Formats: sequence, C-alpha cells, structure tokens
Amino acid sequence: MQTHLRGRDLITLQEWTKDEIDTLLDVAFMLKRERALGRAHPILRDKVLAMLFFFASTRTRASFEAGMAQLGGHAQFIESRTTQISHGDTATEIGEIMGRYNDGIAIRQVDWGVGNGYIRDVAAASRVPVLNMQCDIYHPHQALADLMTIIERFGDPRGKSATVSWAYAASYQKPMSVPQSLALLLPRFGMNVRLVHPPEFRLMPEILEQAEDNAKRGHGSFEIMDDFEAGVTDTDVFYAKSWGAMLTTTDEGEGAAIIDKYPDWIADERRMGMAHEDAIYMHPLPADRGVEVADAVIDGPHSVVFDQAENRLHGQKAVMALTMN
Ligand code: CP
Repeated sequence: MQTHLRGRDLITLQEWTKDEIDTLLDVAFMLKRERALGRAHPILRDKVLAMLFFFASTRTRASFEAGMAQLGGHAQFIESRTTQISHGDTATEIGEIMGRYNDGIAIRQVDWGVGNGYIRDVAAASRVPVLNMQCDIYHPHQALADLMTIIERFGDPRGKSATVSWAYAASYQKPMSVPQSLALLLPRFGMNVRLVHPPEFRLMPEILEQAEDNAKRGHGSFEIMDDFEAGVTDTDVFYAKSWGAMLTTTDEGEGAAIIDKYPDWIADERRMGMAHEDAIYMHPLPADRGVEVADAVIDGPHSVVFDQAENRLHGQKAVMALTMN
C-alpha cells in the first residue's frame, strides 16, 4: 500500500504504479462500506474542489460534487461557456488562480488534440492536484470505477477476459478516452483484453504499445480484432461502446459517414448470448439505446451499468481523499 499520494495529479492511471492503484481500490471499497454503514467520513472537511467543464456531463459532475460533500468539503461547478474562459483566460491563469482558491482542480476537456494538453498546462501552473474528469485521450476515473465493478463481480480479475468493443452510435463522435483507458488498465491487472473495432476506429499507436507492454508486465494479454462476434465469444466482460474515427479523419461529415458504414455493430441479445453464461455487460453511459445497445441487454440480467455509475462516486472519493488531504 502506498500512503504518500498527497498532492498527486491524476491525469492518467498509466502514471500511477500498480501499487498506488491498489491503494485507490482499497480506499474506494473502504469508503463504499463506510457509506453503506451510514458512517460519516469528513476527511476533506473545509476543502474545496473546482470542477471545470468544457463539455456536458451527468455522472461525472454529480458524482464528484456528491463525493466532495460526503468527504466534508465543497465542489464548485465552473463552466467554460459561462465564465471568462470563453473570453481568453488561459490554462496557466486557470491553474494559478484556481489553485489559490481551491484544494484541487478537476477538469473535463474532451476536444480532440486539445483536452489532454490543456489539463497538463493547468497542472503545470497549479499548486494543488489536478484530476482529469475526461480528456480526448484518457478517462481515468471511469476506468477505475469499471475495474472496481469487475472486481466486485468476479473477485480476482486475473485470467478473466474483457472485450472492449466499438459499437454503432449516430449521436456524435464520442471520445476514444474510455477504450484507451481500459486497454491500458485492465491488462495491468492480469486480464486478457480483446480490443475489437472496424479498421477506421483504431486507437492511438502509443496507447496500443503501452497496452501491450502493460499486458506483458501484468501477465495478461492484449489483442486487436475486427470481428465483433469473434470478439465477444466466450468473454467474461462485454464492454461495447461507440467512439469516433478521429485517427482516420477529423472531418465531422466524413467521420459520420464512416460510422454509418457499421449500423450492425449493436450489443444485442444474440451477441450477449455468445459471451460466457455469467458474463457482464458494461457501458459508461450515456448509451444510444436501440442502436449502440439493445434495451434487453442494457436493462437485462447481465448489465452492471448502474454499479459502474455508482462506483464513480466511491473511486473518485478515494482519489480526492488521498490526493487532496
Ligand atoms: N460516464 C460518464 O463520464 O458520464 P457523463 O458524461 O455523464 O459524466
């Protein structure tokens, strides 16, 4: 267990050791138990988290805000659109100023080619920890909640297979931060990860290299497939969600046309039936119901989407309690 995490940024779990992530999991499960028992845990009394959003959110905003309140502190909601950020406040100014008002700064900035750099620029200027609430490359708090959920369902994740698959969704070109974060994290915990997608939806090459290296070190495996049904056959975790073809084209129209080539990539009951009998279906939400996933799957007996959403709260409380105390 690592006990010296005070002041650390969490921009990607790839920058945290396995031992440090084990500490996060340990504290997250402890805080979940404490909440179930109705025991208060004001570890961050009088502390304040700035939550800066450049993009919409339901779960991330609500869980960070509830988490800070449950830890005895406060979270302030700041939107780029309704502040002077939209008129020119720079990342450095935000890091300097928000770091002087607050005990932590959490940011969601998912613009392709912009988000991660922005968060790192704020972190470089900030005297307090910076937490990534999702960027164009990573969604670390989602991946942490997902790993918690897998451990709750299966116990030791070593040797379990996880299919992280692209799925069709016409609503908008979603960031690739969730599949990238899962591809990096799950093999570190000994899981056998199959990344499945049509060719145009490849992930960043450096992430794929790191995922392969993580698999070697974690005694898991990592393979890339382009056959949806082969990918889901006999899997333990069926994690199917959409992301954009940003590495093929940055043109919105072309991207939408590429997505429209694959409307059959839906997580439906037939495909869920190809997975192991006790397999779980996962999605970070929001999902495009009826196109990305069938109602019968997301509302069915294999679905753990509400546990995933709940674990956002407990995982993030662990991160905040350990870094902002
Ligand atoms: N999963 C997730 O990040 O949800 P929100 O976009 O609603 O925050």
